[in-house]
Amino acid sequence: MTTDLPLLTVPTTSAEGTQAVAAALAGLSRAGDLLVLCGDLGAGKTAFTQGFGRALGVTTPITSPTFTLANRYTGDELTVHHLDVYRLSHIDEVRDLGLHELVDDRSVTLIEWGDVISGALPGGYLEVRLTLGESSDDRVLELRTVGADWSDREVALLALEAPVGGDGGITC
Ligand SMILES: Nc1ncnc2c1ncn2[C@@H]1O[C@H](COP(=O)(O)OP(=O)(O)OP(=O)(O)O)[C@@H](O)[C@H]1O
Ligand SMILES: [Mg+2]
Repeated sequence: MTTDLPLLTVPTTSAEGTQAVAAALAGLSRAGDLLVLCGDLGAGKTAFTQGFGRALGVTTPITSPTFTLANRYTGDELTVHHLDVYRLSHIDEVRDLGLHELVDDRSVTLIEWGDVISGALPGGYLEVRLTLGESSDDRVLELRTVGADWSDREVALLALEAPVGGDGGITC
């Protein structure tokens, strides 16, 4: 688990709010990107992926890959790989996922519970940590860039934060 302070913390109050954050991040994504989704069971990692995929033009329903381990969706310009490694118990199973082949120049990859296999990830990534909030639909999303791949977009990521009393940020 990462202990560094997050680059950005975004509270949401509904699944749609989390999906709006995901859509905004999808707008910053590019081919070869990796996102690690982590946090509590049922916090909204799959809901986040649904918003992310839709923003990239995925029209088929995005469902939890908890049992299939990996799902592949076709977007307008990019393929979206959606993995859930919660059930993996052995490093060989991680190798079998072929992460280095998945993360290529035609796709964006999102891995639920990816923090558990952080040592096996092929390069840098954006970590999105979701935690449960006070009310049943409250969530807090913490964003961190790990490695170089997203670090050149930190200014753009920070710009996603809604200015106090202003417009133009993420609406949750
Ligand atoms: N603010 C919110 N953000 C995200 N999801 C929310 C929010 N409020 C309520 N929800 C609901 O919480 C549930 C999140 O489920 P989801 O399957 O996305 O979680 P998950 O983190 O992928 O779970 P798992 O760890 O089992 O894979 C959904 O039913 C969603 O509608
Ligand atoms: Mg899930």
